[in-house]
Parts: sequence; C-alpha cells; structure tokens
Amino acid sequence: MKNIAILTGATGGLGNAFVRELLKENVDKIWSLGRNQAKLDALVDTYGEKIVPIKCDLTNETELKTVLSLLAENKPNVRFLINNAGLAKMEKITRFSDEEIAKTIEINCKVPALLCQYVIPYMDRGAMILNISSASSFQPNPYISLYSATKVFLRSYSRSMNYELKEKGITCTAVCPGWVDTEMLKPRQNGKKVKFIGMVSPERVVKQALKDAKKGKDMSVCSLFVKYEHLCSKIYPQKWIMRVWGKSVEKYVKE
Ligand SMILES: NC(=O)c1ccc[n+]([C@@H]2O[C@H](COP(=O)([O-])OP(=O)(O)OC[C@H]3O[C@@H](n4cnc5c(N)ncnc54)[C@H](OP(=O)(O)O)[C@@H]3O)[C@@H](O)[C@H]2O)c1
Repeated sequence: MKNIAILTGATGGLGNAFVRELLKENVDKIWSLGRNQAKLDALVDTYGEKIVPIKCDLTNETELKTVLSLLAENKPNVRFLINNAGLAKMEKITRFSDEEIAKTIEINCKVPALLCQYVIPYMDRGAMILNISSASSFQPNPYISLYSATKVFLRSYSRSMNYELKEKGITCTAVCPGWVDTEMLKPRQNGKKVKFIGMVSPERVVKQALKDAKKGKDMSVCSLFVKYEHLCSKIYPQKWIMRVWGKSVEKYVKE
C-alpha cells in the first residue's frame, strides 16, 4: 500500500512550498490538485515522479468526486491531507456577484469539509490533516468580510475535528497565517500600493505548520506578529480591532 499526501491548491504559492516540504516526508506520492494543467505539468517537471497531477476544479461536484474514485481504486494510506486551495477578494461586500459569494464559501468551507469526509477512512494513526485558515479568522474583518467569515468556519471546524479524531490518532491543524507572499495578494488595489504588514514567506508558514501538526496542535501560528494579533483578538473588544482594521484598508476598496 502506498503512503501518499493529498494537497489542494498545489499550483499556488503555499501549495508549491508544501510540495517541497512533503518531498522530505515519508510519502511515495503527492496527489497534487489544481485547475491549471500547465502549472501542474510544471510541478512534475520541477519535482519529478512523486508528483501525481490531478486536474480538478474543486467547485465542480463531478470533478471533486474523482478524488473519491481515485481513493477507492488505489486504496492508499493517506499520511497528509492538506486543504490549501482558497479564494480571497478585498472588496465591499455589495460588489460581490452571487457566483463569487457561492464559490468562495464552497472552496473555503464546503470542499475542505467534504475532502476530510472522503479521506479520513483512508487514514491511519499518525496521519495529519492541515486546513489552511487565516489570521483573518481571529475577528471579523471588514472589506475581506466574506473571506474572513469562511476562515472562521475552517478554523473552528478544524479545531473540533482535532478533538474528535484523537481516538483515531489523527490530528487536524488549522493553519492561521497573516499576509503571505503569494499571488493571492494584489500589490495594488484601487490605484494604491497595498502595505502588507508582517508579510512572511510561504516556506516559513509551511515549515511551522508541519512542525505544529506533528506536535498534534489544533492551530498553527507562525510569526510573532500574528501571535500578537491573536492575543489582541482575545483581550481587546472586537469592535475596536474591526475599526482599526477597517480604517487601515478602506482606502484600497472602491466606493
Ligand atoms: N497569501 C496570503 O496572504 C494568505 C494568508 C492567509 C491564508 N492564506 C490561505 O492560503 C491558501 C493558499 O493560498 P495562496 O496564498 O497560496 O494563494 P494562491 O497562490 O492564489 O493559490 C490558490 C490556490 O487555490 C487553487 N484554487 C482556487 N480555486 C480553485 C478551484 N475552484 N479548484 C481548485 N483549485 C482552486 C488555485 O489553483 P489554480 O492554479 O487552479 O488557480 C491555487 O493553487 C488559501 O486557502 C488562502 O486563503 C493565504
């Protein structure tokens, strides 16, 4: 039986960093999910035959179910499930289309929950689930309201899954980075250069996430700055933090 890792959003910034770290782990294959075939091919070219590219739009129910079929066909021993794919947009909530709202909730909440459901039967003691939430889950964040709310779901779900799965010896960690230097962040918004305070590299987030997952932690926070943000969210009224955040980003969104 093959030891594998399953990674969504493998073609993105954090995804690439996860691939590099997973190659150092005891896994025979890394099932790497993404929508972009050229980027998936590039992963294989760069990292070799351990990468199994799986082209899959996770918001397409039929394509998502291919993961279920592949599991039934190959009966692997899944050591890592990393729910990393995600969608984000900094914008006033009134400017979102119905489709954008539905897809963001689907990819950030429904898909990770379904994949956990599909994959847990193929996991044994010592297996790890890492769900990529965000520091924006610490309190409501105006102008990334939808994103922030979806990440609250993922953090809460992951932490209670970690509790429930203890008897099976499986861990589940909500990874909560602040700004990470990937293509998800738009350098300019509303004609202004965006300041990403406390931004860190994807490598730093991923190394800390795997370290924390191995310790069985239900949350991973990788920098002092984000630890400070987490502490503030516990001791100051959320209305104050929302106001500070809202004032600092409102210039980046259109009227
Ligand atoms: N960057 C940050 O500042 C930051 C901070 C906190 C948390 N995060 C979280 O970290 C995770 C990774 O983000 P990133 O920063 O690495 O962003 P990224 O470079 O934009 O990567 C996003 C990934 O999600 C995939 N994806 C999006 N929609 C998909 C769909 N419908 N089906 C399949 N795959 C889909 C993309 O695949 P395609 O190549 O097919 O588009 C891409 O691989 C996300 O969950 C994000 O919310 C990021």
